[in-house]
Amino acid sequence: MKVFKLQDTNSSQAKYLQLAETVRCAIRQGQLATGDKLPSVKSISEDLGLNRHTVMKSLAELVAEGWIESIQRVGYKVLHNLPIEQSKRLSKIADNSSHMDYRLVRSGIPLPTYPANDFEYNFAGGQPDLALFPFAEIKSCMSDVLSRPNTAQLSYGQSAGTPELIDQVKIYLRKSRAITEREIVITNGSQEALFIVAQLLLQSGDKVAVEELGYPPAMAAFRSTGAELVGVKQDELGMCPDALERQILKGNVRLIYLTPLHQYPTTVTLSMSRRMAIYQLAVQHNIPIVEDDYDHEFHYRCQPLAPMATQDPAQLIIYLSTFSKLMFPGARIGIMAVSKAMAKAVTEYRLLICHKSNVLMQAALAKWMESGGFTRHLRRTTRVNLQRRDHAISVLKKYSCFEFDTPDGGMALWVKLKHGTEVNEGKPSAEWLANLCQQMGIYIQHERQFQLNNKRDRNGYIRLGFAGMSENKFAEGIELLANRLVNLNLG
Ligand SMILES: Cc1ncc(COP(=O)(O)O)c(C=O)c1O
Repeated sequence: MKVFKLQDTNSSQAKYLQLAETVRCAIRQGQLATGDKLPSVKSISEDLGLNRHTVMKSLAELVAEGWIESIQRVGYKVLHNLPIEQSKRLSKIADNSSHMDYRLVRSGIPLPTYPANDFEYNFAGGQPDLALFPFAEIKSCMSDVLSRPNTAQLSYGQSAGTPELIDQVKIYLRKSRAITEREIVITNGSQEALFIVAQLLLQSGDKVAVEELGYPPAMAAFRSTGAELVGVKQDELGMCPDALERQILKGNVRLIYLTPLHQYPTTVTLSMSRRMAIYQLAVQHNIPIVEDDYDHEFHYRCQPLAPMATQDPAQLIIYLSTFSKLMFPGARIGIMAVSKAMAKAVTEYRLLICHKSNVLMQAALAKWMESGGFTRHLRRTTRVNLQRRDHAISVLKKYSCFEFDTPDGGMALWVKLKHGTEVNEGKPSAEWLANLCQQMGIYIQHERQFQLNNKRDRNGYIRLGFAGMSENKFAEGIELLANRLVNLNLG
């Protein structure tokens, strides 16, 4: 009898694999039933014109996969407990019940239904304008890195970051903000740093003192440990030290989180005297401070105040910064400048999560910084962002529905809707307006998004990013928004 006919679906495949697939097919389609004896090696090889070794190799493959068995003095037989039967049985069980209902014991940050970038007018604060980014320069640095790959760095190890980038960051932090004598750890954006710090320092029952209005991803990272967040009163000079002291005296505050330079989201700068008062409280009560200096570079009025980390004899400040605004968020490069002990703890902890961050991007950035390209880009974007801030102010001033202070720096404006700030005044809230705007292709952030518990009844502010889009686009979007307010008799 004619035993098999080789399937020539993929003639480039080795003959023994083709034969194995032919036998599998015969079994699947029922030409060979369980317990059937296969023709002898001799007859298969003569029939198909194959070398006996090829046939033996093919049958050995099928034995290893559990399709057939080899029985001494009998030959090869189709197994009774076939993989195909097992998989049929499994799919029957799966079909009869619903899909796996995972017991999730933790959750992250809910994904937005529509990402901000999908909107025609994206006023999300803190977005850099990628149209200004010199991709060709980074491409050339990346190409340099790839033409002479440092194989030691590409492997495991050096979890604190690529040494060349750490050196460049040390120089940059010293020159740009007088931060010296700290260990540098390069993280996957500052979010990873926030998460690791939270995991290392917090547990259930602890409290974290944060500004009343703050950066939600940081809050989420702290909450993920089971810690409770306590909002500390803030005003136009930033967090109020006496309110912080009251919270500390209630007990269990294990961490203070601050955005001292351009407070997120209100953009105000924490005054020098308040910085000192907060620092003294932290020393007195032995509480570490996370200083999130997320857009230090973009300060327009004068030199920005030096980070609190520059005056930290107690080494309690965990200083964070990011390249997300200086390059693009997708680069995922964050900076931690911390004490030796904290750097060791962080580096060891990240071995649990991801070993290290992207070596190629770090090495390319180091080259870009060394070549002077980064400094040139920074000078240009700071100039453009200042122009955009001034332009944004002139646009908003045309409409009577907005009220705001000129921020000394940053990439966004904190704008009060003049029609009323209290929800209980019966006027539409900023949240209502933001939702309405989404239907018009406009993305804006509103006060409630930054509130600790979404509980305060104040909801009259919106945050308008001005750095991420051209001046024309900004003016167009604001005109649409303002006209809508006028139509609603709120302008
Ligand atoms: C307050 C604050 N911290 C940190 C970051 C940067 O986060 P990442 O470095 O993870 O991109 C941002 C970005 O929007 C921010 O607003």
